[in-house]
Amino acid sequence: MSTKATRSLHLSSSLGGELYFVSSNKHKFEEVQAFLASALPSIRLRFFEAELSEPRARLEEVAKEKAREAFALVKKPLFVEDSGLFIDAYKGFPAQYSSWVYKTLGLDGVLKLMSGFEGEERRAHFKAIIAFTHDGSHVQLFEGIVKGRISDEKRGREGFGYDPIFIPEGYDKTFAEDKHLKRKLSHRYKALNAFKGFLEELTSPSDVETKNER
Ligand code: IMP
Repeated sequence: MSTKATRSLHLSSSLGGELYFVSSNKHKFEEVQAFLASALPSIRLRFFEAELSEPRARLEEVAKEKAREAFALVKKPLFVEDSGLFIDAYKGFPAQYSSWVYKTLGLDGVLKLMSGFEGEERRAHFKAIIAFTHDGSHVQLFEGIVKGRISDEKRGREGFGYDPIFIPEGYDKTFAEDKHLKRKLSHRYKALNAFKGFLEELTSPSDVETKNER
């Protein structure tokens, strides 16, 4: 059996149909749950609520660190997710500082930073990195990006975080005005879709065949 097949088999059996999502954010869990319930109903998703440390590093590094830290708590196959808002006019800021900016400046502060910027100058994107580990040492990353712009004012009551001031490309509503739009287009949805492909491969019939061939 190839190394890849052995690894895949090992991963798939360690998963055992159960997967933990570790986060302190219940809104994120709801979005993850809504996606996986319809995309991969065979997987039982569990929520483990924990505040994980957030080193001031690139999202990829933060997500990897979080996955390893989470594994030390849960000791089961799990994934975490780290997101950030990147504003073109500020060379991608706040990126890894998104949480800090949200808590200190808030949405009004960000809108103030954007005053004087118009049209294309208001371009921004969200990025989400999912980090999966089954053993606390190997970590796989999955990325999702949604492009859009910062609105002129806060609009909508759905979602969380920057949703009331983010309008996805090609639309006029903020994510907070239309949760279906968010579920269809968001950075989290795209990262989850990539992750889903990986999970499907782990549990695919060809994997079972490999198992039977042993
Ligand atoms: P973190 O991934 O929890 O570290 O999120 C960083 C910051 O981005 C926090 O202030 C979140 O509220 C915000 N954020 C994360 N995901 C989203 C989202 O889907 N919509 C809007 N804001 C988000």
